[in-house]
Amino acid sequence: MQTILVANPKGGSGKTTVATNVAGFLAGKRQRVVLADEDPQQSSTQWLARRPALFPAVKPMPPERRELRELDPHYVVIDSPAGLHGERLRDEVRRADVMLVPITPSVFDMAATARFLAQIAEYKAVKEGGLAIAVVANRVDARTHSAAELDAFLQGAPFPLVAHLRDTQVYVHCARDGASVFDLPRSRAEADWEQWRPLTRWLAKQARAAG
Ligand SMILES: Nc1ncnc2c1ncn2[C@@H]1O[C@H](COP(=O)(O)OP(=O)(O)O)[C@@H](O)[C@H]1O
Ligand SMILES: [Mg+2]
Repeated sequence: MQTILVANPKGGSGKTTVATNVAGFLAGKRQRVVLADEDPQQSSTQWLARRPALFPAVKPMPPERRELRELDPHYVVIDSPAGLHGERLRDEVRRADVMLVPITPSVFDMAATARFLAQIAEYKAVKEGGLAIAVVANRVDARTHSAAELDAFLQGAPFPLVAHLRDTQVYVHCARDGASVFDLPRSRAEADWEQWRPLTRWLAKQARAAG
């Protein structure tokens, strides 16, 4: 079982968008996927509730440890709340195999994310190579100045930047419909599949490395 933690202390950076789309992608690859919604706002729980029964199944995190064992998932995807910090963050990081940090191109986000990444890099679990961490640039408009600034900023980050996701209503519609871009027809989502490819490849590589 691989635990994928999606975290960034900043609200609105794309945690739920990344977590639900990662879950949808893995489910589409016939993996058993559990989505753990740790945010009191319960956005991914609502997404799960709206997910059409005909789409590849994503299960909610059951309340009991024993039930999780029975589900025997290949992946647990954790959608974490804004403001996650301190001991709770350290615990989540320690329990994860993989961590994805979505970040949007705004100077405020970048400053907060820089502090967050520097803090994570100091964790024992991270220093000892216990988990793989990657940054996902979200809501990027390649034409804007801030996209270039984000790229420059991430050049110096301690973790790789594995994908650029564009700013598109496709994600808003997916959130509304309990879908991931991988559940959509090629005609609507091909550009987005393309953008996700380096990220899904990176995830597959981490899974292989874990055996
Ligand atoms: N790439 C994107 N393009 C367009 N809208 C997006 C994108 N990513 C996120 N959003 C929208 O921005 C809002 C915040 O994203 P969300 O994933 O909920 O962030 P978080 O979980 O970090 O608070 C949501 O309404 C979501 O649908
Ligand atoms: Mg959220």
